[in-house]
Amino acid sequence: MKTAVTVISVLVVELILLILFVNSGIYNVSTLSPDPGFLHWVFSRTSDNSAKAHSKDIPIPPLNDSSMVAEGFKLYKETCVGCHGAPGVNRSDIGAGLYPHPPNLVHSAKEMQASRLFWVAKNEIKSTGMPGFSRTHSDHQIWEIVAFLEKMKDMTPQEYAALVSAKTAMVSTPAKGAMKAIHPYKYR
Ligand code: HEC
Repeated sequence: MKTAVTVISVLVVELILLILFVNSGIYNVSTLSPDPGFLHWVFSRTSDNSAKAHSKDIPIPPLNDSSMVAEGFKLYKETCVGCHGAPGVNRSDIGAGLYPHPPNLVHSAKEMQASRLFWVAKNEIKSTGMPGFSRTHSDHQIWEIVAFLEKMKDMTPQEYAALVSAKTAMVSTPAKGAMKAIHPYKYR
């Protein structure tokens, strides 16, 4: 009985201290003052283990299909490169300003199962700036992005740049009249 009273008293005191701490404003939430080592460890281990556990049973579809990779490249360029960069491409100012920093996905794709890349891109990671794409992209589109990541992890900056210029050339030289058909009011 005495032990139970002591344990409860300690818990109540800890709870009061926690409430005082939360209301004090002492903790600096500025990203210029990084989390202390222990907190950083707690957050990153929790996030890593959660992603691992939740993605481990997701079946991985065949990812070697060239049209999936090509579509995945377009989607990666539209939605991911600003924050994560690519071979030879730096993160944008927005990506560079986030904390935790968006990792280089070349390394992530080398280290992680495709199912984990898929799970993170689909679900987002709370309170980090990593958006989830389940509301805007189908599962198939997210797998296309993963198919591209599996290729990008072995690409040189030159190979990535060649893909970008091939894509730009296709967009900037549309068939005669194509732009007129798409934007009749603009190209009259
Ligand atoms: C607005 C910025 C932003 C965009 C856009 C973004 N991400 Fe992220 N992403 C992040 C941040 C920040 C993290 C780090 C989260 C953390 O440390 O827990 C992250 C983490 C990840 C991770 C985990 C990698 C690792 O090594 O732990 C994957 C996989 C990922 N993003 C994939 C994508 C894909 C695929 C896209 C595009 C469809 C994308 N992200 C778009 C900000 C972004």
